[in-house]
Amino acid sequence: MVGLGPRRQPSRKGSMADMPRDLLQEIKRLEDLFTVDTTKLKAISDHFVSELAKGLSKEGGSIPMNPTWCMGFPTGHETGTFLALDMGGTNLRVCEIRLPEEVGEFDIIQSKYRMPEELKTGTADELWGYIADCLQQFIEYHHEGEKLDQLPLGFTFSYPATQDYIDHGVLQRWTKGFDIDGVEGKDVVPPFTEALAERGVPIKLTALINDTTGTLIASSYTDSEMRIGCIFGTGCNAAYMEHCGDIPKLEHMKLDPKQEIAINCEWGAFDNEHKILPRTQYDIIVDKDSPRPGQQAFEKMIAGLYLGELFRLVLVDLHENTNVKIFEGQDISSLKKAYSLDASFLSDIENDPFENLQETHDKFHSQLKIQCKKPELELIRRLAELIGTRSARLSACGVAAICKKKGYKTAHVGADGSVFNKYPHFKVSLLLTISTPVVGASTLTNDVHCRPAVHKP
Ligand code: BGC
Repeated sequence: MVGLGPRRQPSRKGSMADMPRDLLQEIKRLEDLFTVDTTKLKAISDHFVSELAKGLSKEGGSIPMNPTWCMGFPTGHETGTFLALDMGGTNLRVCEIRLPEEVGEFDIIQSKYRMPEELKTGTADELWGYIADCLQQFIEYHHEGEKLDQLPLGFTFSYPATQDYIDHGVLQRWTKGFDIDGVEGKDVVPPFTEALAERGVPIKLTALINDTTGTLIASSYTDSEMRIGCIFGTGCNAAYMEHCGDIPKLEHMKLDPKQEIAINCEWGAFDNEHKILPRTQYDIIVDKDSPRPGQQAFEKMIAGLYLGELFRLVLVDLHENTNVKIFEGQDISSLKKAYSLDASFLSDIENDPFENLQETHDKFHSQLKIQCKKPELELIRRLAELIGTRSARLSACGVAAICKKKGYKTAHVGADGSVFNKYPHFKVSLLLTISTPVVGASTLTNDVHCRPAVHKP
């Protein structure tokens, strides 16, 4: 297990010494705007607990709390060869996984395909056709000339889906900027299997699962203390095991109350009714200009897709609308392009090792054609920290809420996703917040033992 004890971030006090007064005031304003104090965090996580319960009730709530029909944890004794397909926002990954006799062991072959940006707003036929083409390529490449039976496939479909069976899923709504007509409200499996059949690909879809459920199950395969699976990436979400007896909306099915079932929370929809999250004017713009305004309120404040956009909106505002006028007299047309900065832009700024923020200076110049002065660089760095820290602290409320709901004093959490993996400060802030007695207590591990992929040249 990878032990990740929280380590405090190095203090950068003192670097603001030569900052003009008006910029300092602006930084103070941004600090007030983006800092969520522990009292508020506690209130958010308490409200979160009641919203999780509401999602499980017959009446339902904002958080969908989708039953996944993934009944209980694996034992580690599972054997066989399976395909897994992960349709992410940036890439499509296909894996072939072999589970041998040895408990908790596995071998994996994987190939990555780019997910063309146009597909996200194209047609349903184009989407399913492209995915089926990638699977066909994978099979042809790794099983050339072999006579294959139908290979079982688990399809990681990382969007909210209503499931009556594990191998079906009606898309509730697109998230993460996807906007393909004619898919919402329908079972996604039939058109997908048709596209495979048209190409004669020898694959049988046996499970449709969310990425959080996949993370929970895969992590628990090697760690029996695993309790929650989280994704902190382009989108954000969590899954955990609930007893059927604690799910009023499944009461009519008369399931064994002690039987566990994985619940895909879809917590990105937390507080869609705007009761508790401290939204800023910038969060409101992100929501308004998104393909699905009014949805995924929590996700839009914390997930990778939106962090760079929030940062960009603040900078444009500081250039145009405040007394401070950063980047005065400069052409900021590149900065004005929506979604031109991704979360890695922010983590690179936070990771700039130089006292004079040389790397940040060079990044702004090369990517945005903006020459930053030293005090502007300080403001930029502070803003990146504030947005990243807010994201991590709010995310911690979700983890803490599940722990509180389940009464876990300690828990292992399997976490994955680009923000978690590539943003060191995010990990630290998340851990520090979760381990604050105010919010809750749990242990976070990033413990999916991925063997190196066997890539053929
Ligand atoms: C989706 C979830 C997914 C999460 C992380 C969200 O936008 O609604 O289903 O688990 O992103 O990928």
